[in-house]
Amino acid sequence: MPQDPSEYVSKIFKDGIFKDKVVFCTGGNGSICSGQVRALVHLGANACIVGRNVEKTEGMAKDIATAREGAKVIGIGACDVRSMESVQKAVDTCVKELGRIDFCIAGAAGNFLAPMSQLSSNAFKTVIDIDLIGSYNCAKACLPELVKAAKEHPTGESTVPSGRIIFISATLHYGGTVLQTHAVAAKAGVDALSSQVCIEYGPLGITSNVISPGPIGGTEGMDRLAKKAKEGTNPWKVIPSGRMGKVKDIADATVYLFSDAANYVNGEVLVVDGGAWRTTSTGRDFPYPDFLLEGGSVEGVGGMKKQKSGSKL
Ligand code: COA
Repeated sequence: MPQDPSEYVSKIFKDGIFKDKVVFCTGGNGSICSGQVRALVHLGANACIVGRNVEKTEGMAKDIATAREGAKVIGIGACDVRSMESVQKAVDTCVKELGRIDFCIAGAAGNFLAPMSQLSSNAFKTVIDIDLIGSYNCAKACLPELVKAAKEHPTGESTVPSGRIIFISATLHYGGTVLQTHAVAAKAGVDALSSQVCIEYGPLGITSNVISPGPIGGTEGMDRLAKKAKEGTNPWKVIPSGRMGKVKDIADATVYLFSDAANYVNGEVLVVDGGAWRTTSTGRDFPYPDFLLEGGSVEGVGGMKKQKSGSKL
């Protein structure tokens, strides 16, 4: 269904900045990745999205194509990122049908909540295979095309540079996350993988960066990883920005990283979470953000500041 562009991309980006560019995206029928691709297509790109479910992937491709008149978006189903052969076939089809690959988003992921005591070795391996090996397969298959495209449209010499890859990661491994051993290990690997692509392919004109979304509303990920909030409560107020993220927040970050505004950003992790991961250790005795908003004073602990007579702050 056509969506109003204001729902998925900010107005500050110029129409047509990605004209004639082609983006290849794994996990492209998921809520976040489809939003990223929709924004790029709206701004001029053509796209190839891949996924496991044939009907969903083909349907999503048609839906994304409504973002711009004349857009070409192909959906390749029955593609499992765990199989290099499967990803390579999709990349070959993309190049055959759309002519090239300028940008790549390695976005396919799988996740669920489980303590280690209920996480079989195969369950752990499954998430490593989808998130980490799948990201490697995606990068491995796309990089030759990205290098070709970067030679044609090098960063710095063109207002529309090519040869960029974004890995979708998470912030789960920054401080550790209970029930997420599998995803923590996988996403730590994804971050390391992106750095390696930067080091080895940067000299060939490639930029490789990570986007790490926080909790993003209306996504399958949130359905799987968080309980529904009780009516009248806002569990997301513990995020410094005071709300959950939107798909548009991630799409905007994607447009930035693929645009020539990010020419010198390489090997970087762009966390888009409203500051969420920074508050993970706050809130037990001095609930965040209520304590700050109510102007409370710290009491009931040792080492409290002694008030000097007549002193302010
Ligand atoms: N808790 C514990 N173990 C689980 C689990 C859960 N909630 N869900 C699946 N597993 C285990 C399975 O039992 C199996 O292990 P076993 O063989 O020892 O029993 C293993 O994980 C693989 O499960 P299976 O269903 O065969 O794998 P799959 O390849 O069909 O599916 C998943 C992969 C499990 C990641 C599935 O959730 C998926 O397809 N996810 C994609 C969408 C998604 O997660 N999106 C959100 C991204 S944030």
